[in-house]
Amino acid sequence: MKNLLFISIISFGLISCGSDKSSGKSEKEVVITTHTLDTALYTSKGKEIAQATFKTLSSKLKSAMQNGGVENAISYCNIHALPLTDSLSKVFDAKIQRISHKPRNIKNAANDEELTLITKYQNTHSTKPTLLSNEDKVIFYAPIYTKPLCLTCHGTVGETITEKNYEVIKSFYPEDKATGFKVDELRGLWKITFENKN
Ligand code: HEC
Repeated sequence: MKNLLFISIISFGLISCGSDKSSGKSEKEVVITTHTLDTALYTSKGKEIAQATFKTLSSKLKSAMQNGGVENAISYCNIHALPLTDSLSKVFDAKIQRISHKPRNIKNAANDEELTLITKYQNTHSTKPTLLSNEDKVIFYAPIYTKPLCLTCHGTVGETITEKNYEVIKSFYPEDKATGFKVDELRGLWKITFENKN
C-alpha cells in the first residue's frame, strides 16, 4: 500500500510551484505530494516478525524444559536467546530485540525513552504497538505480557521459582532483575528496528 499524503493548499502567494507558474491556471490550488511513513506496512511487518520470533523462542523453550527441566531451559536461554533473535534478524532484515525495565540480561535493558513507553503500557495495559521513526530508522514496539508459564523463571523466588532454579539463574545472571512478575503483567517490549526506506 502506498501511503502518500495529499495536501491541498490554497496558495496565497506563499507557495511557488515551479511548473504551475507557467501553466496559466487561474485557480490557486496546488497539490503537494509528500512521502510519509507507511505506518500500516511497518506495523504489520513488526507484528509478523514479533509473532514468528515468539513462536521460535517459546517452542525452543518448551522443548528445552521437556528435555532437561527448568535448569536446562535456563542455560538454553542463556546460550541461545540472543543468537536466535540475531539470526532471525538476518532472515527478516530487521533488528529484533526484547527489552525490559527489569532485565535479566543487561543487554536487554530499556533506555530512558523506552522506560517512558513502558510506563505508558503499564498504565494502559494496551496491546497496541507503537512506531517511532526518524530519517534513518523505524522502530516498532509491542508489549510482552506474562503468561503462567513465564513465572517459572520470572515469578517470585520460593513461590513460582524454586530456590534451586534461582541459584542457576543467578549463576548466569548475577544482576538479574527479572523476577517478581505476576500473570498478565508487562514483562517488557518487542523492539524491531527497520531501516527507513521512505
Ligand atoms: C526456563 C526459564 C524461563 C522461562 C520459563 C521464561 N524465561 Fe524469559 N528469560 C529467561 C532467561 C534465562 C532470559 C535471559 C535470556 C538472555 O540471556 O538473553 C530471559 C529473558 C527474557 C526477556 C528479555 C529481557 C530480559 O529480561 O533479559 C523477556 C522479555 C522474557 N524473558 C520474557 C519471558 C516471557 C514472556 C516468558 C513466558 C512466555 C518467559 N520469558 C519465560 C528464562 C526464562
